[in-house]
Amino acid sequence: MTQAQQSIFITGNSSGLGRGLSAAFLKRGCRIFGCSRRGYTGLEGDLKDIQCDLTNFNTIPVAMETLLGKAKGLDLVLLNAGILGEIKTMAKTSMDEIRHIMDINVWSNKLLLDWLLTWDRPVAQIILISSGAAVLGNKGWGGYALSKATLNMLAQLYAHEFPDTHISALAPGLIDTAMMDYLCVEPDPVVYPALNRIRNARGTDVMASPDIAAERIISVLEEVRRFPSGSFVDIRQILEPEEYQKLMSARHQSRSAPVKE
Ligand SMILES: NC(=O)c1ccc[n+]([C@@H]2O[C@H](COP(=O)([O-])OP(=O)(O)OC[C@H]3O[C@@H](n4cnc5c(N)ncnc54)[C@H](OP(=O)(O)O)[C@@H]3O)[C@@H](O)[C@H]2O)c1
Repeated sequence: MTQAQQSIFITGNSSGLGRGLSAAFLKRGCRIFGCSRRGYTGLEGDLKDIQCDLTNFNTIPVAMETLLGKAKGLDLVLLNAGILGEIKTMAKTSMDEIRHIMDINVWSNKLLLDWLLTWDRPVAQIILISSGAAVLGNKGWGGYALSKATLNMLAQLYAHEFPDTHISALAPGLIDTAMMDYLCVEPDPVVYPALNRIRNARGTDVMASPDIAAERIISVLEEVRRFPSGSFVDIRQILEPEEYQKLMSARHQSRSAPVKE
């Protein structure tokens, strides 16, 4: 990081990882621009937040102009807003549910990237918050997994269009947020065995608090830039290669031994 004050734009910063990232960067004296439906973080510091439902596509350009119109450029953009949807089989997932997940997890980001292109001010680094679900293909993660796999390709495709900006899709590992309140309580782990790993991780170091997850992301910002622009990077590849290997081998095991509903 340079000595000058850094300007950072974070979507979905009213809770979870986005709020943790906002708090961590504010502590470092950065200027934060944030957006979410709540439009409020409760954090103190150099923070400008805007209320915006990113699924209302037509309102995105006006919201971005209001939020970033006076900024001279951005050191970092974290496209973090996202939803999980319900854990269920593909056959039971309706088109409306998939569309809704895709709207927030993918297409709103397409429009934000388009807006940043026309904004025509320097943007040094863009990180799209992805997930291990983008490559794991676990039963039950249908709409979410599809959305994060598409997000990874979105990063690759936009890398061609942002020659002066480093883009990556980053899986942040397990984080104890509102998503976990659902995953650790509601769906049945007998039907969806991948839930066992998540439930066993809660309350251990394997599942970080939003504040710790934010620090982990900040610690790899430089390292991520060593990957070609457009790459998908799982933070565990960098910080916990053994944990990452375990995750990837469990993926193949669950494929060879499917559990019947
Ligand atoms: N938790 C994990 O273990 C984990 C693992 C891998 C990846 N991730 C990814 O990390 C990101 C953050 O998730 P989280 O776990 O921190 O969940 P979270 O606490 O539910 O946070 C989601 C954020 O997205 C915002 N958001 C949702 N819908 C929105 C909309 N229509 N318009 C604008 N903002 C919207 C929410 O704000 P409002 O409700 O105020 O709109 C909230 O600030 C997501 O992309 C998720 O896929 C999480």
